[in-house]
Amino acid sequence: MLETAVQQPKSFGQTEMRPSYRMDLRQYRDRKEYEKFVKVNTVNDWSTVTWKDIGKPYEVTSFSKEKTEWEQTHGEMLPVHTSWTMFNQSFHEWFSKDVPAEIGDKKNAFLKSLTSFKPSEVKTALGDYVRIHLWNYVHRIQDGIWDPRGKRALFEGLDVLKPRILFLGAAEGYEAMQLSAMYPDGEVVMVDYDPFCRDARFAEFPESYPFLGKNSRTGGDKVYYKNDFNISYVVDDIRNLPYGREFDIVLSVGLLEHFPDSMKAEVVEWHRKFLKPSGYIVMTTPRAQMRSKLYYEIMADVMNHTYRELMTLEQMGLYLHENGLEILRHGYIKVHNGIVARAK
Ligand SMILES: C[S@@+](CC[C@H](N)C(=O)[O-])C[C@H]1O[C@@H](n2cnc3c(N)ncnc32)[C@H](O)[C@@H]1O
Repeated sequence: MLETAVQQPKSFGQTEMRPSYRMDLRQYRDRKEYEKFVKVNTVNDWSTVTWKDIGKPYEVTSFSKEKTEWEQTHGEMLPVHTSWTMFNQSFHEWFSKDVPAEIGDKKNAFLKSLTSFKPSEVKTALGDYVRIHLWNYVHRIQDGIWDPRGKRALFEGLDVLKPRILFLGAAEGYEAMQLSAMYPDGEVVMVDYDPFCRDARFAEFPESYPFLGKNSRTGGDKVYYKNDFNISYVVDDIRNLPYGREFDIVLSVGLLEHFPDSMKAEVVEWHRKFLKPSGYIVMTTPRAQMRSKLYYEIMADVMNHTYRELMTLEQMGLYLHENGLEILRHGYIKVHNGIVARAK
């Protein structure tokens, strides 16, 4: 790991846009900056929050062409597992793009389409051009999807040493790696029932992506890379896992909102089931905000293969509270809500 050793000292405090992602090793400079990006612990007493007051989540109802066409061809609803395999392939492609190069390509394609005088060609080329710009803004400029500064703020303050971390519906595994950098020298078990997540999304996650965390020997900052972590990746249905109550942290990111209310209790139970009595449940879900609604509209073909809700922090918290979790820390960052909880 020569690259790690050479890069470390000069990259603390820095951010840099690379062709397909932003690397960000900045800490918040002061409280004011922190509060601009992260809002924590806005609810005083979860027992006073009611569905009548906060309403139910927003359901995303525009679906991808791939899902719609599959259902037309087969005359039945797309099975959930297949919908995830479609989603993961489609979403992964975007993380591999050389975004500046692709912006140039899509612009040229759009200009060329204008000379065809065919409205359908122009519309497609314009759509492609808008989507790559939106991706550039959301993922590379704003870093809204990985959002390391926001996630570090949500995940701070856990009382764990060398934790065993279980990531349910892990996809590329980003947040477990961030947690493992903050609470080092433990072990991560990633679980996803789509093998593409282990074999492409996680396997191709950039080895040079730096995670800012702690040095367990000195207590100072340390930068970790994917290959520094102790990770095993299990391809299985969460409902088949053989583990007992053996994990210090059970984590999910963007899982709860894919299940209707009739299944929310079961999803919460998936987390509780594998947790040590002193352990933490860490969950995040996408926020119900105007810009996210617009994002899922414009990116429908890329993202919308499955049932999906957007929820407020209060709605997310109430699902956890009414299903027997004690909420220790809650907050929202750029595009996600986050909750750290214990099983009561
Ligand atoms: C929306 S993704 C999580 C968001 C993720 N951060 C991303 O970038 O895509 C949810 C993941 O959970 C997985 N998943 C859903 N239900 C599952 C189950 N019952 N068992 C295992 N994995 C499951 C899906 O395959 C998918 O990769």
